[in-house]
Amino acid sequence: MCGIVGYIGHRSAGDFLINGLRRLEYRGYDSAGVAVVNGRLDVRKKEGKVSELAELLENNPVTGTVGIGHTRWATHGAPNDINAHPHAASDDRFALIHNGIIENYSAIRAKLREDGYVFTSDTDTEALVHLIDDVQKKTNLPLVEAVRQALTQVKGAYGIVIVSRDEPDQIICARNGSPLLLGVGEGENFIASDASPLIEFTRNVVYLNDGEMAVVRRDGYEVMSIEGATVDKKVHKLEWDIEEIEKGGFEHFMLKEIMEQPEAIENSLRGRIRLESNQIKLGGLEDVMDRFVDAKRIIICACGTSWHSGLVGEYLIEKHARIPVEVEYASEFRYRNPILDEKDVVLVISQSGETADTLAAMRQAQQAGVLTIGVCNVVGSTIARETDAGVYLHVGPEIGVASTKAFTGQVTVLAMIALLLGKERGLLDDEKLRHHLEALMAIPEQIRRMLNTDAKIRQIARDYRFASNFLYLGRGSNFPVALEGALKLKEISYIHAEGYPAAEMKHGPIALIDQFMPVVFIATRDAIYDKVVSNIEEVVARGGTVIAITNDDNEELDPLCEYVIRVPRTTEGFEPLLTVIPLQLLSYHIAVMRGCDVDQPRNLAKSVTVE
Ligand code: AGP
Repeated sequence: MCGIVGYIGHRSAGDFLINGLRRLEYRGYDSAGVAVVNGRLDVRKKEGKVSELAELLENNPVTGTVGIGHTRWATHGAPNDINAHPHAASDDRFALIHNGIIENYSAIRAKLREDGYVFTSDTDTEALVHLIDDVQKKTNLPLVEAVRQALTQVKGAYGIVIVSRDEPDQIICARNGSPLLLGVGEGENFIASDASPLIEFTRNVVYLNDGEMAVVRRDGYEVMSIEGATVDKKVHKLEWDIEEIEKGGFEHFMLKEIMEQPEAIENSLRGRIRLESNQIKLGGLEDVMDRFVDAKRIIICACGTSWHSGLVGEYLIEKHARIPVEVEYASEFRYRNPILDEKDVVLVISQSGETADTLAAMRQAQQAGVLTIGVCNVVGSTIARETDAGVYLHVGPEIGVASTKAFTGQVTVLAMIALLLGKERGLLDDEKLRHHLEALMAIPEQIRRMLNTDAKIRQIARDYRFASNFLYLGRGSNFPVALEGALKLKEISYIHAEGYPAAEMKHGPIALIDQFMPVVFIATRDAIYDKVVSNIEEVVARGGTVIAITNDDNEELDPLCEYVIRVPRTTEGFEPLLTVIPLQLLSYHIAVMRGCDVDQPRNLAKSVTVE
């Protein structure tokens, strides 16, 4: 996925673009570039991070008040200067930036080559540039019409923005599958992939939907369908502030977001848990509660960390509401021609609300007439807007590529959903409900206590930072935590790590055990705790090194383990909200000690808006 910005107004376009790209760098950082119109079309682009582009602009500045900028996560063509965006038409009439994949670019490229076009890059994007150029030269239409006609020939996902030397008082943008929004200012207007580049200039935004395009001028904008019909759009007011997306004094966004989880979970619970009346209020579900409560089955679709929180959700919903739950990788669900019943409910979980596979799974469910519910963090994101109903995390922007507060926010929301469904289905009496609500309300302070173990976690990181492999084991609702701990470690420290149900160790992974591979057990005192202790003994008997996470009143594991990290007790099923915290910190400290780029790990992007 890539970051896109555009500006038209009275400011220096170059300054706005480079600062905006810095705000979007978490979306991709293989290469970056800008194109600015000032009587001519000036394009500057370079492999590497936005800081490299900034240096290039220092030495070779652009001037002008209309421009576009792009930070890339490569899908077609290696990260290099040539493949960097923007891509310009052969006569430098216009330049285009693109987020997404043009699926039929090879056919388009072949046809245009026959017509004499020369391709200089390996990107799918360049095919779109020459297609627009070809349409305009053959029809002599204004650029916006040529763009529209060209897009009718394109298959795939795109968010594109175009500036033209010959039509300098406008920027054209179009969206189909990759997010784009307009920022509405005074005598100036903005375009971006998300609100972070523009929030310090305006809080008024217009979200483009798939199949829509816009012509943006200094004094206004028009939104129309790709087919040409005018579309009236609502102007939304942004609710969060710029400091929320700054690092707040922490070395990395990831550490900031780990440390702000107590406040994040308080915000997620705020106004939704009403202890005085022993109620849960999830306004975004009210219109669909009858169908939700009466669900024959709930299918949770997600990717990555969100898939892990979905596994915790399965445990909680089946425990409290006794509705069968299946958790699916969205990428598998969308291509498996799933068997869906009209009484099924598909619940999609996505921090960004833009993950291509999750979006596709949601749309597939909607085509089958199934109720779709979204659990998202980014307000106004595509999944949040297209699902039939949903619940926002309200944990604030998550910038670090490795998801942390989003995971605990997702589990919190899923816990509220499970309790609400259980209550509505008459399976939770007032006393039980109050017990669980009080346990949920205690979580933020308990996380705060967990964060105080940071010094000990740093010591463990120091001891094991050179390990080549880690094994994470847990049972019940802590099995997804084992998966999540392994994912955190591998995605930011590049150490191989696997998560397994603890009982599965005997079916293969135990062959891996030796003194060089740390084994992390999540072993809180629940109904199957004794089984996990047996698994720990099996590892120790084979010379394995064990790091255990258990309850703060449990001394039993001390003789068996190299390290024991203690977490407060909570109601069964809510443990993941606490046991994940030391694993987030462990992966963070190991990655920092290994000199890894924690906020922008290699090969990764914050939201994968391509398949
Ligand atoms: C988790 O740390 C990763 N960043 C990744 O697995 C992420 O959870 C996944 O790409 C899903 O993203 P989403 O929640 O925005 O859909």
